[in-house]
Amino acid sequence: MCGIVGYVGPNSTSEVLIAGLARLEYRGYDSAGIAILDSEHEIDVRKRSGKLKELRELLKDSPIKQGNTGIGHTRWATHGGPTDENAHPHLSEDGSVALIHNGIIENFAELREELAGAEFKSDTDTEVVAVLLGRELAQTGDLETAFRNIVKRLHGTFTLLAFATAEPGKIVAARHHSPLVIGLGEGENFLGSDVAAFVEYTRRAIAVEEDSIAVITPDSVQVTDFDGNTVATEEFAVAWDPAAADKGGWPSFMAKEISEQPEAVANTVRGRIKDGLVEIPELAALGDDYLQNINRIIVLACGTAAYAGQVGRYAIEKWARVPVEIELSHEFRYRDPIVDENTLVISISQSGETMDTFLAVSYAKELGLKTVSVCNTQAATIPRESDAAIYTHAGPEVAVASTKAFMAQVVALQLFALHLGRVRGVLADSDHRRAVTQLEALPDKVQQAVESQEQIQQLAHWMADTRSVLFLGRHVGFPVALEGALKLKEIAYIHAEGFAAGELKHGPIALIDHGQPVFVLVPSPRTSPTMHSKVVSNIQEIRSRGARVIAIVETGDTAVLPYADEVIRVPLADPLFEPLLHIIPMQWFALELSTAKGLDVDQPRNLAKSVTVE
Ligand code: AGP
Repeated sequence: MCGIVGYVGPNSTSEVLIAGLARLEYRGYDSAGIAILDSEHEIDVRKRSGKLKELRELLKDSPIKQGNTGIGHTRWATHGGPTDENAHPHLSEDGSVALIHNGIIENFAELREELAGAEFKSDTDTEVVAVLLGRELAQTGDLETAFRNIVKRLHGTFTLLAFATAEPGKIVAARHHSPLVIGLGEGENFLGSDVAAFVEYTRRAIAVEEDSIAVITPDSVQVTDFDGNTVATEEFAVAWDPAAADKGGWPSFMAKEISEQPEAVANTVRGRIKDGLVEIPELAALGDDYLQNINRIIVLACGTAAYAGQVGRYAIEKWARVPVEIELSHEFRYRDPIVDENTLVISISQSGETMDTFLAVSYAKELGLKTVSVCNTQAATIPRESDAAIYTHAGPEVAVASTKAFMAQVVALQLFALHLGRVRGVLADSDHRRAVTQLEALPDKVQQAVESQEQIQQLAHWMADTRSVLFLGRHVGFPVALEGALKLKEIAYIHAEGFAAGELKHGPIALIDHGQPVFVLVPSPRTSPTMHSKVVSNIQEIRSRGARVIAIVETGDTAVLPYADEVIRVPLADPLFEPLLHIIPMQWFALELSTAKGLDVDQPRNLAKSVTVE
């Protein structure tokens, strides 16, 4: 899940690489490093364990030489701990080759044994590849040929970038189950794990196909398969504004991204409503005949994206009348699912690069199923592997904890449900129009919920020593409770669990003790009176056992007042839209508690934004 960047051109190579790494740091931040081929054709390397700021400090104390060819890496450790030695780039034995890698080389132990006499300086699988490439280059005398020969011998997942002292102004790169994009400049070219690596310098890009090799110089870009046959490429314009990937004055990316949710909703809906009804042009690729005959939908996703899928399920089942199952991507591949040609697979992934989800989608394709991707990242692997893609337009999400992407994913699934309900002829026009009105009103309501930050800040302040928090929800509130708990675990390192409120009495109520904080998502008494009264009863049950209740309720709901220690109000919405408002105070809560504990909100320990290993 590391971030990689490459640059050939006349600008300050170290600046370009460090700027790229800063934008890619969300992919991993155990260590960082850069290598530059200087004007005397020697490779200069600086690398450091820890976050990018450690490398910046090192560069201040020990400036790197400049040159027109360079590669940079930010690491999420797999083989070998996060030490200076294990940080990338790695060099060949004779120092003639520098190489960086994202992924895992599964046959590295065999290769290492084969490299008799080599003295390895690190414990990484990557250094083995650097040494292998150095030896192959010594034999062939040509970087591209040597690179092609060794890439074919690697098993596992990889994006590799390498350059050699003998061929200045050239970087070779390969991808296999790991992302790689090319940035096209004027007299300069770039490589990156995603467009964030170079968006500051160019908005022209090419997504490199699976199992391809790219060779860039300042004036040329060439893409071939592993055997050297030319692969056709298509240029695309990067939609992300570079400024969108900056903090913009906020103390953290997560705070900025929570506050951007009104636009994330509006942008995801925009262009998908025609004459008051939802129409998603991207679904034309599947054909209405196919959509009319779908008998089952399997949603594949991980983490927050899977919770978004659970929320979306209620909308698909209600409006399109198709049964939906949510399956964690990594579980789907290991069973023998019962499917037929009318089973549609929807994958959800912010990054579009999550390895578990990618492999699950590939498996679905092997089973002959049609696949739709809900994705936030243009030209990512999963949407490109899918029959149709519904892009969410949340803008770049940098904080590891997903917030605005969740919101946009739920909205995209609601749009999908309305589209499908219309095509299948099972959704009354009046219900469809009412849902569209709600969707259009959502950005303002989300904004009001975003303004709950101050109240939550105070709450988090008095709860800074809390060791465990529970979250309760019913119906659509259940997956939101799970997502609220995930946020807290992820960035505040606090034990947190979400439960279906009705499940409490079947066991978890034993956890309630004096002072146990419990967030309760209260459904609307106007639209869901029965569920509302059941949840109010649940609140009384836990309160009488000592729980500290923080109730999230719709404005005007007074029934919970006597039983709640804290009440957070959100605007009125129809039941299926409540999750989009209820989640916001919980996002703030996790952020504020993490801040109160002095933790790194955006880059929590042990995690990376994009999980590109299995
Ligand atoms: C969310 O806060 C997490 N960082 C994580 O669960 C994430 O949603 C999951 O890894 C899936 O990522 P994706 O959407 O990029 O596929």
